[in-house]
Amino acid sequence: MEVRPYRSGDDDTLYEICLKTGPGGGAAFTDPRILGEIYVGPYLAFEPDLAFVVEDDDGVAGYVLGARDTRGFEKLCEARWWPRLRERYPVGSFPDDTIDARFARLIHRPPVARDDVVAEYPAHLHIDLLPRTQGRGFGRILMRRLLAALHDVGATGVHLGVGATNTNAIGFYRHLGFTVLHENPSGLTMARPTFLP
Ligand SMILES: CC(C)(COP(=O)(O)OP(=O)(O)OC[C@H]1O[C@@H](n2cnc3c(N)ncnc32)[C@H](O)[C@@H]1OP(=O)(O)O)[C@@H](O)C(=O)NCCC(=O)NCCS
Repeated sequence: MEVRPYRSGDDDTLYEICLKTGPGGGAAFTDPRILGEIYVGPYLAFEPDLAFVVEDDDGVAGYVLGARDTRGFEKLCEARWWPRLRERYPVGSFPDDTIDARFARLIHRPPVARDDVVAEYPAHLHIDLLPRTQGRGFGRILMRRLLAALHDVGATGVHLGVGATNTNAIGFYRHLGFTVLHENPSGLTMARPTFLP
């Protein structure tokens, strides 16, 4: 088992992990790429040095991805990531009530982080591990790698979004020193400084 920096050949596996660790294990999606196009692709394209993976004999099984400056990242995605996807997934690509349609809508209206959040915690992250690597300390190792890398590039605070029902992840983040900044029925925004004692 090894934690290492992301390499360009990892992309497809990271997209698959994103799907499998996503809503309902990805089973309800008709398009297996759409989640990765939102939550993985732009990080690999624009912040490859802030991507780390965990790998075992069966291959890559988890990742953490970061963006050092959320506002700058949103602008970069608006200029260089979303336009291509908006062409690939025009409005109405999927029947309205499907999970694919829910995420396709995000491509056309991506969420924007709150001003008060990015003022103190300018970076953000995503972390996902397949079940075979969960609960064995690799989430913590990946998180520490990213926090150190973010700190090295000058990002002093990092935030993340987590679903309100994802009690496992919320417990993990709390245990690692994240606190809740905002809460609504669908999810929480949590954050912490990147400094590691
Ligand atoms: C959430 C997730 C990233 C955690 O990673 P992990 O590898 O399972 O966690 P670790 O084994 O590294 O745990 C690190 C520490 O957190 C603690 N911890 C983990 N889950 C916890 C929980 N629910 N409550 C309290 N503490 C928890 C562990 O006990 C461990 O403590 P220690 O290092 O002090 O002994 C991982 O389980 C995962 O990817 N889950 C599915 C996808 C997901 O939900 N991603 C987050 C989307 S926002």
